Formats: sequence, C-alpha cells, structure tokens
Amino acid sequence: MNNGSSMVLSLDIGSDRTKLCAGVPVGNDRVEICAAAMVKTKGISKSVVTNSDELTECIEALVKKLEGNKKKLKRFVYVAKNKNIKVNSIYLTIGGEHILTVNSKSALRLSERPVLVSRHDVSRLMDTAKSLQRCVNREIIHLLPQEFMVDGYKRLKDPEGVCGCMLTAKLHTISCEASFMQNLINVVNNAGISVEDVIYSGLAASFSALTKQQKHAGVILLEFGAETVDALFFKEDSLQWTSVIPFGAKDITLEIAENLSVTFMQAEQLKMQYKSMPDDSMYKIIVKKKSADYNTIIPQYLTAVVDKKLFEIMFFIKKELELSGILSKADAGIVISGGMSFMDGFTAKLQEFMGVMVKFGIMRGFVSNLPAAGSNFYAAGIGAVMYAIDKNRNKPVKMSMRRRDIFRQIVGNVKDMYNDYF
Ligand SMILES: Nc1ncnc2c1ncn2[C@@H]1O[C@H](COP(=O)(O)OP(=O)(O)OP(=O)(O)O)[C@@H](O)[C@H]1O
Ligand SMILES: [Mg+2]
Repeated sequence: MNNGSSMVLSLDIGSDRTKLCAGVPVGNDRVEICAAAMVKTKGISKSVVTNSDELTECIEALVKKLEGNKKKLKRFVYVAKNKNIKVNSIYLTIGGEHILTVNSKSALRLSERPVLVSRHDVSRLMDTAKSLQRCVNREIIHLLPQEFMVDGYKRLKDPEGVCGCMLTAKLHTISCEASFMQNLINVVNNAGISVEDVIYSGLAASFSALTKQQKHAGVILLEFGAETVDALFFKEDSLQWTSVIPFGAKDITLEIAENLSVTFMQAEQLKMQYKSMPDDSMYKIIVKKKSADYNTIIPQYLTAVVDKKLFEIMFFIKKELELSGILSKADAGIVISGGMSFMDGFTAKLQEFMGVMVKFGIMRGFVSNLPAAGSNFYAAGIGAVMYAIDKNRNKPVKMSMRRRDIFRQIVGNVKDMYNDYF
C-alpha cells in the first residue's frame, strides 16, 4: 500500500486533464476522499505518449500541487496514522482507443464425480482463461467474471461450495496495448513514482458514478472525456459490455475552430459559452479570428455549430448501443460523467435523442469535505481510489481463505487419488 499507510493515491492521465486523487478507508466499508487536484495534460495525444518529458513535468507539477495541500490533508493524516505523506506510488488509470474488450466462456473439469467447488478451483479456471486469452503485445488488465455455472446450476455469482463435476464461467476481459501501457508507466516512473496497479478508466469511473442498484437493474455509463467516450453496460451486478468510442469534447472544439476560423484556445473558450437554447436577444459574441481580425457572431450561430457536432456524436453512440442490443436492456437508463457532461442542456438533449432516461452522474459511495470531490471530472480518479481501497480491504480475507484452500487442495488431491485408483 502507499507509503506504508492505508492512504491510496490514483493518477488519471486524461488527454486534456490529469488528475491526482487520494483517499483513506474509514471503518469497514467507507472511503474518505482527502485530496484531489488536476492540471492541464501535456505530451499525450490519443492515449499515446507523444512527449515523455512534457508528460513527466505535468505529473511532477500535479504532485507538487497535491503535496502542497498538506494543510487540507492534516485531518486525514491523523486518520491514516501517517505523518509522512508523499506521493511515491499510485494506482494508474488507462483508457483510449487501444482498449479492447471481449466476452468469453471458460470451463474447468473438476472431477468424474461431483465435488465441492473451492476458491482454488475458481482461481485455476481464471488462470486458464487468462493464459488462453494472452496474446503478443496485449496486456489483460481485468478479467471479470459475469456468472458461473456448476453443471446444471446456472447464474451463480459465487460458485464456492456448490457441488458438481464441471465449473464454467462467463467472463468479460479488458485488455490494452502492452507498449502503450509500458510507456505510460515509464513516464510515471520518471516522475519518481511507482505504479501499484493499472485500472481501465471507464471501469474506475463506474465505482464513483454508479450505484449498486443501477448496476443490478441495468445501466449504461457514458464517461465523456476530451478524446474518447467510455461506454459500459452493467446488468445483474456485472459488467456485460464495454466500448471505447473515438469521439469527445475536443471534437466540438475543433468544429468551432474550423467554422469560426479561430484558434483552438479561443474555440475552447467559446465552447464554454455554448447555450443549448439561445434566446434571440441582441447579445453578440466577439471573436478574434486566426487572421487577427475581429468578428462578431450571434450566439445562435455558435449553438448551431455545436449542435451539429453534438448530433453526430450522439448518433454514433446510439448506433453503437443499438447494434450491441443494450439500449433496450438498460432499465436504469444512462448515466453520464466526464468533462463534456457539463455542457449546458446536454443531459436533456441526450435523453431526448436516446429515448431512455439520462442522468447527470452524481459522485457517490464516499465521503469528503472537498468541494472538488463532488465534480464528476474526478469520476475515474476517485473511482480508482475506491477500487483500490476495496481491493486492499479484501486482501487479508483472501489470505486467510488461502490457508483453507491449501487444506481443501490436499483433501481434493487425496480424493482425486482415491477416485483414480478405485
Ligand atoms: N462546460 C463544458 N462544456 C463543454 N465541454 C467542457 C466543459 N467543461 C469541460 N469540458 C471539456 O471536457 C474535456 C475534459 O474532460 P475530462 O477531463 O473528462 O477529459 P480527459 O479525461 O482529459 O479526456 P479523455 O478521458 O478522453 O482522455 C475538455 O475537452 C473540456 O473542453
Ligand atoms: Mg478521462
């Protein structure tokens, strides 16, 4: 764990902004978010490190920003019982178009005669599935069980203790380009920070933006970033489908820049002035064109330019959701998060277009007295902290299970020998 304490840190390197978050476990099942900071990202484009020095500087600046926040951290230092907090290891989120996901089935023959399924059997099944799916230059970051089957018993969330001859699992695998991931880790290491683990950014966001009830009923999470939209579908408590859609808020900025002949920076500022339903007042926007001339435009023109691009993005997403057959299964509708979700009137527009309920993602599942922690800009960063704390909490349980597993394994081996010989 980080710094020998229970404090967990996450680094979410987005194509537009990089976020660093810190949290501590409170009690048995709560998480307190005690720090969150972000800076403009430099040196990365389409998830590819284009300038490692710039990205390293950006991470160092962010670390300084967070470590400089010690006053705010003081109270939590007490909670974490650690007086020497430094950012020296983090949980890293990873996203982008190189993320691939696949649903598959894996089976393990347990015995000729019915035996009790052990935890060891489950991990054997997962290990086999992992080695079968391994391929050159791809790294499996998550192998998530959707359901297990033991002979005729179907839809089991935990097959341990069920009796049968054959264990089968439906799995959702998330993998990434190994070289992209390694380059990102190298940059983080260059900033003097080690990486504890890697988590897919869309999955991380689901920890802070979705409730257990939504994940059970059927919900689509759309995490709208600058260059990509992470689309995830949960039903019956498990991740059923994932897609990284190659559109984002930056496409709208580029559309404004092109149509109004303005610089990217100015287009970015104009995007923030977008109003989904402009009134027809005499209000005018003055823009400085690339040619250094000034021009005046009416807000309706800006709205028309943005709406056209928004329509294209929404159309593409709807097609993808319809083709995969999940739009009709999302009984709890769609939840949106990420920077683009802040666009004026976007939630209502998306709801009208998709024909299902759309909710602006409310950050939940943790406590914090930081106003920033309520902003779903931090959905992936805070979600990664929650994921890591949850994982670390389960560690000792797993260790004590392991001892039981050894005993079970010995008994199992003896049983196997008996079955083989008699
Ligand atoms: N009010 C707003 N209206 C429109 N766009 C906005 C608004 N606020 C932020 N954005 C856009 O959101 C994007 C940043 O969001 P976010 O931090 O979620 O992206 P990211 O994580 O850097 O990108 P990605 O996940 O694609 O790598 C920027 O493109 C920014 O212009
Ligand atoms: Mg992002």
